[in-house]
Amino acid sequence: MAGRIPERFIDDLLTRIDIVDVIQERVTLKKAGRDWSARCPFHDERSPSFTVSPAKQFYHCFGCGAHGSAIRFLMDYDRLEFPDAIEELAARAGLKVEYEGGQRQAPREDAGDLYTLLDAAATFYREQLARSPAAREYFERRGLDDDTLKRFNLGFAPNQWDALKSALGTNPQRVALLDKAGMLASGDRGNQYDRFRDRVMFPILDRRGRTIAFGGRVMGKDDGPKYLNSPETPLFHKGRELFGLWQVRDANQKIGRLLVVEGYMDVIALHQYGITQAVATLGTATTSDHAEILFRNSPDVYFCFDGDRAGRQAAWRAVESVLPRMRDGRQAWFLFVPDGEDPDSLIRAEGVDGFEQRLKQATPLSEFFFAETGKDVNLASIDGKARLAERARPLIGQIPDGAFRDLMYVELERLSGAKTAQPASMRSASSGSHRGNRPAQRSLVRTAVALLVQTPSLASEIEPPWLFSELRQAGIPLLVELIGLCRERPSLTTGALLEQFSERDEATALNKLATMDLLVDPGQARADFLGALAQLDVQTSQQRLDDLIARQIEGGLSEQEREELRHLMVNKPAHRRQQ
Ligand code: UTP
Ligand code: MN
Repeated sequence: MAGRIPERFIDDLLTRIDIVDVIQERVTLKKAGRDWSARCPFHDERSPSFTVSPAKQFYHCFGCGAHGSAIRFLMDYDRLEFPDAIEELAARAGLKVEYEGGQRQAPREDAGDLYTLLDAAATFYREQLARSPAAREYFERRGLDDDTLKRFNLGFAPNQWDALKSALGTNPQRVALLDKAGMLASGDRGNQYDRFRDRVMFPILDRRGRTIAFGGRVMGKDDGPKYLNSPETPLFHKGRELFGLWQVRDANQKIGRLLVVEGYMDVIALHQYGITQAVATLGTATTSDHAEILFRNSPDVYFCFDGDRAGRQAAWRAVESVLPRMRDGRQAWFLFVPDGEDPDSLIRAEGVDGFEQRLKQATPLSEFFFAETGKDVNLASIDGKARLAERARPLIGQIPDGAFRDLMYVELERLSGAKTAQPASMRSASSGSHRGNRPAQRSLVRTAVALLVQTPSLASEIEPPWLFSELRQAGIPLLVELIGLCRERPSLTTGALLEQFSERDEATALNKLATMDLLVDPGQARADFLGALAQLDVQTSQQRLDDLIARQIEGGLSEQEREELRHLMVNKPAHRRQQ
C-alpha cells in the first residue's frame, strides 16, 4: 500500500496556500464583500452562486452544493486523485510531501524511470504492429480502424522470448526496471524473458496518459489464457485503474456519463462508434476505489454486464461498492446485455441508436437493489418482509446521508412495512425534529458546532474537563470530537476541518453548518460559543440529577452518589465554566 500522508502535513499545507489563489488561476473570481464569487465551475448557471471564503479557506456553491478545501477543488476541477492534489499544492508551497512509512509507492526517480520505460515499451509494440501483417489483419478482422488503433496506441508483441528485453534492456539496471514494471517473467532457473509474446497489446494508461501496464490478447484460440495482464507493480494497481478513462477525458470536455463495460474490446468498439464515455475494469470486480473514481469524473454511471448469472453477480458486487459512494447528485444504472452478446457485438449489430436505446432502458440502482434483495422472498408473508428488511437495511445504512438514502428507506418501508427503518438523516444533528428531545436543545448543539466549524480557533477557549461531553444528545459526540481535533491542531481552517470529515457521514451536515449564516461578528462568536457550552453544561447537570433521582427510587445509590445528589439538589445546576 502507498504511504499515507499524515493529517498534520495536510493541515500545515493548507495553512501555507491560499485557496483564493488556487481557484483564481482556474476561475475568474470577483470580490464580493469579504468573500469572492463566480459562476460555479461545477454546474451551468447564469448568476454567480459560487463563493470562496479566504477566512474559512473554503469554497461553496449555493446552487449545486459543491464545496470543500483547496484540495477538494483541485480533485474536482482538475480531476486529480487525492495524493496528486496534495503533490500539486505542496509543489506551489515549496514543500515536499511526507508519506508515512517512507515513500509513496516507489521513490520518485525510480517511478519516473518506470513511466519512461513503459512508454518506450508501448512505442516498441506499436512499431512491431506495423511490421506484423498477421497482427494488423487481426485488428482489421475485429473491425478496428486506423484512428482507433492510434487513439488506443495498440500494438503487437512479437513471438520471441526476448524481443522487448533485448530492445529495451540494454544494461542490467534496465533489465531490472523492466522486471519491476512487470514486463518480464522468470523461468525455474531464474532466467528472465518477455512476459508478453505473440499477443496484440493494449496499453493501460493512468489518468495523466502515462503507460502503466498492458493487456495482451492471443490472436488464435489455442494459446494459454485469452488475455494476459501486467501483474501488480509500483505503478499499477488494477483495483484502482480503469481502461479507457484517459481516452474518455481526452475526448470529452465535460463527462456527462460513464459506461463501465467488461472488456478491452468493448471499450474500444464503443469509442470507435462514437460512444466515447466507455471504460472497463481490468478483469476484476468493481472496487470501491473504482466507484469513487467513476463518480469523481461523472455524476451518472452506467454499468453494463452480461445478463447471465455471473453477470448479475458481478453487478451486485458493483452495487456493494457503489452504495457507500452514492452521495446526492450521483446516479447509477445497470444494463444487462443479452446472452452471447457483449457491448462490442451489440454496437456493431445495432449501431449507436440501438445501443443508446438500451441505455435509456437501463435499470436504476434502486430498482436493481430491491429486485436483488427481494429475490426468493415472499413479500406477502411477514417472514418474507422481515427477511427483506434484514437484508436491505444494513446496505442502505451505508449510503451517505442525503435524499437518496432517505428515499431508499422509504421504499424499504413501503415494501416491507417495517417501521424501524427510520431515515438516519432525520436523526442526525443537522435537521428535522427528534423524538424525546426538545428542539431548543438540539439547536444549541447545532449552534455550538456551527460556530466551531466556522471559527475553529474557538476550541482553544475552553479547557477540559467538559461536563457537557456526558450529555446524551444527538450531536454531542461530534461536538466533542471537533473540539478535540481543533485543540490538537490550532492552525485548522474551516476548509481543512471539512477536508478531515470529507469521507464521513457527517460531511453533508457539517458543510451546511459551515455555510450557515450565523450573523455574528468574530467577537460575538466567542461569547455565543461559550454561552452555548455553558447551557449544555446546565443540561448535563440536570441530566445527572434526573439519573440519580431515578436510581435513588430503585435504591441503588452509593454513599458517594448520595452526597453528589444532595449537592446537586442544593446547588441547582448552574454555570460551572469560568472564563
Ligand atoms: P471477455 O472474454 O468477455 O473479453 O473478457 P472481450 O473483451 O469480449 O474479449 P474479446 O472480445 O474476445 O476480445 C472480458 C475482460 O476480462 C478480462 C479482460 O480484461 C477482458 O477484456 N480477461 C478475460 C482476462 O483478464 N483474462 C482472460 O483470460 C479473459
Ligand atoms: Mn468480446
